[in-house]
Amino acid sequence: MIIAIDGPAASGKGTLARKIAEHLGLHYLDTGSLYRAVARDVLARGYRLDDTWAVVAMARSLDSASLDDGGLREPGIGEAASRIAGIPQLRAALLKYQREFAARLPGAVIDGRDIGTVVCPNASVKIFVTATPEERARRRFLERQACGDAATFEETLQLIRDRDARDAGRESAPMRRADDADLLDTTEMDIEAAFDAAVGLIKRKISQ
Ligand code: CDP
Repeated sequence: MIIAIDGPAASGKGTLARKIAEHLGLHYLDTGSLYRAVARDVLARGYRLDDTWAVVAMARSLDSASLDDGGLREPGIGEAASRIAGIPQLRAALLKYQREFAARLPGAVIDGRDIGTVVCPNASVKIFVTATPEERARRRFLERQACGDAATFEETLQLIRDRDARDAGRESAPMRRADDADLLDTTEMDIEAAFDAAVGLIKRKISQ
């Protein structure tokens, strides 16, 4: 069974996907970590983010053991990831790893931007998780504040808006809700409520 969870930055899709995977005993892949890890490696070797050759070379030599590096969650790496994510050759280079992961038994929960549309169009369950930009900025702001980051709420909101525009506006695999995906708006929900709602959607889909 494959469960595809897509959605914009700070929508809560990562926390949700991880909880669902634990609950159902499935593997979990955060595909954002692949884009982040490639961005980290490109920057660490002093290449430019618009150097397609370097970006693809880093993707091809990506060490999957380095995907849980805490440094990947740094805001600068997220920004850099979203800048390189528009390169079609990079997306193609990361596709095989994602599809092989999806094929692992007994199944997987995979989160990202294009899982329901491009990576796993045949997923048994697709959920597009969202929340208003203000609520997502509020969550990201609190998260960053706890890490001692000095960015203001307004700056965080602007970054969220810019990232949404870049992720949804690119030509290659833009972020969008698949036609057969259920929408889960978590604006008014905490993580427990979002989890209960997602489990309800999964049960309904599977019993159909
Ligand atoms: O956690 P957050 O939502 O901020 O970001 P993420 O899921 O770690 O993804 C970082 C960036 O990688 C996104 O802004 C996308 O541009 C890109 N990405 C993508 O293009 N396709 C995916 N399947 C996952 C991430």
